[in-house]
Amino acid sequence: MIHYQTEREKKRFWIGEKEFLPEYELKTESVFAQCNGYMGVRAAHPFSLIEEQRGMFLSGAFNKAYEGEVTELVNCPDVTWFGLEIDGEKIYPERSCLKSFERKLDIFSGELVIHYVFDLGEKGEVLVENRRFASMAQTNLFAQSLRVQFLDGRNRQVKIKTGINGQMTNSGVSHFHTSTARVYDKEIMEIRSELENGTVTEAVGCKVVCGVQEEKEFNLKRRGVYGTYAVTPEDKEVIFEKVTFADQGEDGITTEERKLALLAALNKGYDVLLEEQQAKMKEFWDVTRVHVDGMSEAEEAAVCFAQYHILGMTPWHTNESSIAAKGLTGEGYKGHVFWDTEIFLFPMLLYGYPKEAKRLLEFRYRGLDGARKKAKDYGFEGAMFPWEAARTGEEETPLYAALNIHTGKANKVWSGIKEYHVTADIAYAVEQYYESTGDDRFMEDCGYEIVFEAARFWASCAKWDEKRQKYGIYDVIGPDEYTEHVDNNAYTNYMAVYCVKMALNYADKLKAENEEVFKSLNQKLKLEKDLQKWKDFQEKMYLPVPNEEGIIPQDDSFLSKPCLENIEKYKESQIKQSVLLDYSREEVVNMQVLKQADVVMLLNLFPKLFDEETVRKNVLFYENRTIHDSSLSYCAHAQACAAIGAMDLAWEFFRKCLVVDINENPHDSTDGVHSASLGGIWNCLIFGFAGVHYEKGVLYLTPNLPKQWKTMEFYMYIEGVKVHFTVGREKIALTCDKQEGRMIKVKAGNREYMLEEHLDISLA
Ligand code: BGC
Repeated sequence: MIHYQTEREKKRFWIGEKEFLPEYELKTESVFAQCNGYMGVRAAHPFSLIEEQRGMFLSGAFNKAYEGEVTELVNCPDVTWFGLEIDGEKIYPERSCLKSFERKLDIFSGELVIHYVFDLGEKGEVLVENRRFASMAQTNLFAQSLRVQFLDGRNRQVKIKTGINGQMTNSGVSHFHTSTARVYDKEIMEIRSELENGTVTEAVGCKVVCGVQEEKEFNLKRRGVYGTYAVTPEDKEVIFEKVTFADQGEDGITTEERKLALLAALNKGYDVLLEEQQAKMKEFWDVTRVHVDGMSEAEEAAVCFAQYHILGMTPWHTNESSIAAKGLTGEGYKGHVFWDTEIFLFPMLLYGYPKEAKRLLEFRYRGLDGARKKAKDYGFEGAMFPWEAARTGEEETPLYAALNIHTGKANKVWSGIKEYHVTADIAYAVEQYYESTGDDRFMEDCGYEIVFEAARFWASCAKWDEKRQKYGIYDVIGPDEYTEHVDNNAYTNYMAVYCVKMALNYADKLKAENEEVFKSLNQKLKLEKDLQKWKDFQEKMYLPVPNEEGIIPQDDSFLSKPCLENIEKYKESQIKQSVLLDYSREEVVNMQVLKQADVVMLLNLFPKLFDEETVRKNVLFYENRTIHDSSLSYCAHAQACAAIGAMDLAWEFFRKCLVVDINENPHDSTDGVHSASLGGIWNCLIFGFAGVHYEKGVLYLTPNLPKQWKTMEFYMYIEGVKVHFTVGREKIALTCDKQEGRMIKVKAGNREYMLEEHLDISLA
């Protein structure tokens, strides 16, 4: 990190930029965004910039503007803009003389602070400080403060204009059918914006807390409402606070409740609200913090930064929305939900906040009908989950990508049709959840049905291969999106068999232990008629095994394709997908070149599927052919390399995934942070370096710490018990509250242990 620097101060941990560089604007707006799971607000300047992309996103606020457009997360009315005049002179960072500048995010509290010192010539020097955060204590609230201080000691007239800008669009697409702006009690500004199936209301209250308010006037614009406050400084200073209350129709909040909540927050004031925020955030950190003895400050900041964003993108309040590929930080991927959620983000939430993790699975359950429809539309049975989801289970992947600027033709997007594996990924997360929580209630309400319907989908898409005398799964895209239309993708086939096996096990278990539940599910889903088909699928599905060289073929044709020459050039390129500048998509499909981890992902999810030597060979073989053009790739490779003890490579990839969003490239992350990669950092730390793996009631521990690390300390909920881990190079200590009659089985270095309250394991 050069552009972004870290700084520690008492209980605060800042990551910031000290230079005003407009080329970093869009990236910084994403990476420093304020998010609390309900809302996400991009960290745009309070003042207008020539190039900026303000954004306010509310979890679940999706809309489809026109036929032919896709459903997307709506960019809601903006509340972050402030117009500032000093003795009649308007302030703009790009025009006024900016003497110093700093924009920084406190990773622990989520507070953003922006400092400017302007030299206004005869009008002297003035410091402007803008602070803001999205409240975790009351998730409808967004608090801001603006401080203007005259550094040469002379008071000047300050005019602040601010309000709600309802003219926001998603890259030019306007989502609001109508927008009603008004002012209540000469105090509260409000905009009510109607979507096709919903309403977003934002109410704003402002208060001068330092200075004498001389005048206040409100004006309505088309889709906008603003207040202008003329203030005389008190003791050379003006402090102005603004609180926003944002909600959606379905929250059922009345106008009166909204006004009361807003006025209560305004009365408390910014500092008190911030204290509440800090206390709430501390609760999160107490569970989620990973302490590593031996990490540099910048590395530690990057780990905390990732966790801050995961906390901010998780819908803590509902199961009606999930986590988008860009969280709530930008318009990228239209706010859609991918396999990123279940495979990359779910683990940290599962082992830290199992109840909340469950909601993400309930979200998928709510989408079952949409997934059933998709399966039917494509001639399959059961549930085929969408590759990209918005609010429902319906497929939202656009059918065509942007037009090719030279040919004017649109490229077909195949992932929504062919990237089947997401259906097994969701089932995988269900089993992970059940294994580590034992939550029968969830399984009965949602889990079994998801798994059974997923199994039914897999069984219906298998085709018999006469030559192999096996079933196969044809014409798919695996996780590696550079190989389209392939047969028997290893990741897909293994995941499919795993899913069907899981369904059969659950069916057997229910029949034996809970016949009532089986009967009712059988009545609803007509399971009995399919059980034989699933058994047949499970026994006869083709699973690629290592060839003579020990390599698991990624698909039927992969190993017979030529390798990409000079792959290093593309691996090192700053430009993502630069290989597509030199080769057509078709050429890339026909080479041994991967966009991202594929077989390697399989080995991460099932570390015990193959012997150590096979795992090692395959990780190295496929890494050699991977350009890492997807941000999901570095973390996956870091985890895999740590698991095989290839520590130099693991460290190299870990360092890269730490800075996927806070690297030096101003063009990355401009449309939002990379959620999956942020989740992958935790996976790499815990599953990779600490070597934790929990499967079928056994907690496996095989740590491989980077050489400069002494210990790692963290918590995980295992079987409902909060376990404290101290993982060192030579010993591991596990501690938990004693559970009457219950112990956790632990395996480390070929020995078995039982954890009751405290366990010391020597690795020597
Ligand atoms: C990756 C997918 C990922 C998606 C959203 C794509 O570039 O290839 O694996 O799900 O981005 O993050």
